[in-house]
Amino acid sequence: MLKIAVLVSGGGTNLQAIIDSIARGDITDTKIAAVVSNNPGAYALKRAEEAGLTTKCISPRSFESRELFNQALTDYLVKSGADLIVLAGFMVVVPAQLISAFKNRIINIHPSLIPSFCGKGYYGLHVHEAALKRGVKVSGATVHFVDEGTDTGPIIMQKPVEVLPDDTPQILQRRIMEQAEWKIMPRVIDLIAHDRVHIKDGKVYISQEGD
Ligand code: GAR
Repeated sequence: MLKIAVLVSGGGTNLQAIIDSIARGDITDTKIAAVVSNNPGAYALKRAEEAGLTTKCISPRSFESRELFNQALTDYLVKSGADLIVLAGFMVVVPAQLISAFKNRIINIHPSLIPSFCGKGYYGLHVHEAALKRGVKVSGATVHFVDEGTDTGPIIMQKPVEVLPDDTPQILQRRIMEQAEWKIMPRVIDLIAHDRVHIKDGKVYISQEGD
């Protein structure tokens, strides 16, 4: 049984997709051990409570320094017994000590086709604003492992989504969530739960069922 901790900051639609996929049996052999938010007002926390999950808010504002916040977040996740950390719209720079405590065991969903529109400053609606400004005809979403850089870890899965002429950042964001994010994040978790995701020379390989 894979135990996951889901880290959130906002609306939590990706968290909801994970909860629903477990309930439907699209993700199997997986349990959500905890849902953690840096933001006490995150609607994602309500979704988690409604699903009967353990929730925890760890806000940087409650700590005297960033270092103390980083340590508290890392300590909580280590204690939670999670095997995998899932960043589902978590808008906080992941502490270095968390990355080393969970080496190749943290995954993130990013709302573009990496390496486009990623890195520092590219999060949430900013990503879609930048994609529309550049005039790309295709965008999408990426699930990747988290390393010390920003959006630089090994890519696990990507899904392209069409950009339409009248798109606003909000409309494009919603289409990418519906057509890509809510599908590939649950899919990747299920693959990891069944030990089918492997990293070799910085690249991800997905083995066949039963291999
Ligand atoms: C999602 O679009 C996710 O890809 C993005 O934030 C949104 C969270 O929505 N994440 C990033 O931009 C990370 N760099 P949600 O709270 O409804 O899942």
